[in-house]
Amino acid sequence: MSEHKVPTGPCKGPKGYPILGVLPMLRSNALAFLERAAKEYGDFIPMKVFMSNAYLLNHPAHVEHVLQTNYRNYRKSPMLDKLKPILGEGLFLSEGELWTQQRKLIAPSFFRQRVEAMAGTMADVASEHVAQWDKRAASQDEFSLSEDMSFLTLEVALRTMFGNGMEESEAKAFSDALMVGNEVSAERVWNLTRLTEMLPTARNRAYDRAVQTLDRVVWRVIRERRASGVSGDDLLGVLIDARDSETHEAMNDQQLRDEVLSLLLSGHETTAVMLSWAFHFLAQHPACLERLRNEADMVLAGRVPTPDDLKQMDYTKRVIQEVARLRPSIWWFARVAVNDDDICGQPIKAGTTVLISQYLIHHHPSIWDDPTVFNPDRFLPEYVAKRPKFAYLPFGAGPRVCLGSGFATMEMQMVLAMLLRRFDVSITSESNPELSPMITLRPKKEITARIKPRLRH
Ligand code: HEM
Repeated sequence: MSEHKVPTGPCKGPKGYPILGVLPMLRSNALAFLERAAKEYGDFIPMKVFMSNAYLLNHPAHVEHVLQTNYRNYRKSPMLDKLKPILGEGLFLSEGELWTQQRKLIAPSFFRQRVEAMAGTMADVASEHVAQWDKRAASQDEFSLSEDMSFLTLEVALRTMFGNGMEESEAKAFSDALMVGNEVSAERVWNLTRLTEMLPTARNRAYDRAVQTLDRVVWRVIRERRASGVSGDDLLGVLIDARDSETHEAMNDQQLRDEVLSLLLSGHETTAVMLSWAFHFLAQHPACLERLRNEADMVLAGRVPTPDDLKQMDYTKRVIQEVARLRPSIWWFARVAVNDDDICGQPIKAGTTVLISQYLIHHHPSIWDDPTVFNPDRFLPEYVAKRPKFAYLPFGAGPRVCLGSGFATMEMQMVLAMLLRRFDVSITSESNPELSPMITLRPKKEITARIKPRLRH
């Protein structure tokens, strides 16, 4: 690794088209375009996006400034307003006073003890999934691992949120709606205007129906819970019981609806995509798979994992950290400067967009040795200590860091350990699939697999 200096003085960037600037390139393949720009122009890259100024920031010192030191000056980009019909003013999108108040109110629901209390529900869902995999292993049919992980993480999200209180047909309608909502929102992010969203196309109608379904179900559950007078011991109950530490006020129903959908949407697809990538990389690295399985065999001795077991499974955690480095589910942020600023000596005018890509920073050749190589041991403490803190940010950083990182990590550890100790997974899709950089970083074609009972050597 060479010394990684913060760039100073005037910097160059890609030209782009008149008026539109680099927008067409971002729309056609944002990741490939930003990757090329970083290779050619370095760590601080000016560009025009539809007549407004933007910078791609690719140095940990920039990340620290925008996400931590002066985070109040950087609001989430209005591009994300396309997610508002579903997420409303929930934590993921809210800003200013409302965000501060809600973060304070909800953060305790994700403190370690609370998350550990959800381990039993996660283990139940994972055990049911093992039973489904037994059937798949018997048939040896090829199946979509991407879709399978999506169902699994959605089941975890729904059960931790609502307990067992949803009828099967309603849960199915809700899951379908969440998936459609997710997909269409992702397609809309780069649209310049909302005109196309108003056309009566099949896709737009499906989206409107999905939002109605999500609303109908969440409102029904909230009303029934309120009417029962019992908050419940699932995440919804915890959110109902949450009180502001100073005013002692609880959330109103609209805010509760927005937070429930924000948590469900922020947590399920991100975790599913990362799990599919984990199977993909482990299939290509049999020595790493063997270490992970040995750890699961030793620590668990056939039991369902408890939170204490998972704490001892350091190698499994390092595998997850490495997957999150190579394929961060959320691979970029866009923030807009509220007031004029100075980022490490570079002047930034109010209204400027700053882009930060976790994917690019996680592959930065000045920070990571052999950045494209899968090597979980780069997360051994002695190596972590040598890297800048803001060089690794799969869950974001600073005050708006992901609220569900502990939840997601526990879920991924549990799922990988429970499935891989029982099954051999052969990935049947491409070994180096093209990426589809939408809101989450999925492969363009889904990851497929065949499984059979584990053959022990
Ligand atoms: C592997 C799985 C996950 C990844 C990679 C991930 C990643 C992220 C990232 C990068 C952010 C910051 C976005 C920004 O600053 O613009 C974020 C925020 C957030 N995440 Fe996650 N997330 C994951 C799972 C979850 C889960 C399971 C939950 C909830 C149960 C969750 C809830 C949230 C919430 C509420 C926020 C907004 C926090 C705020 O602005 O205060 N995430 N996540």
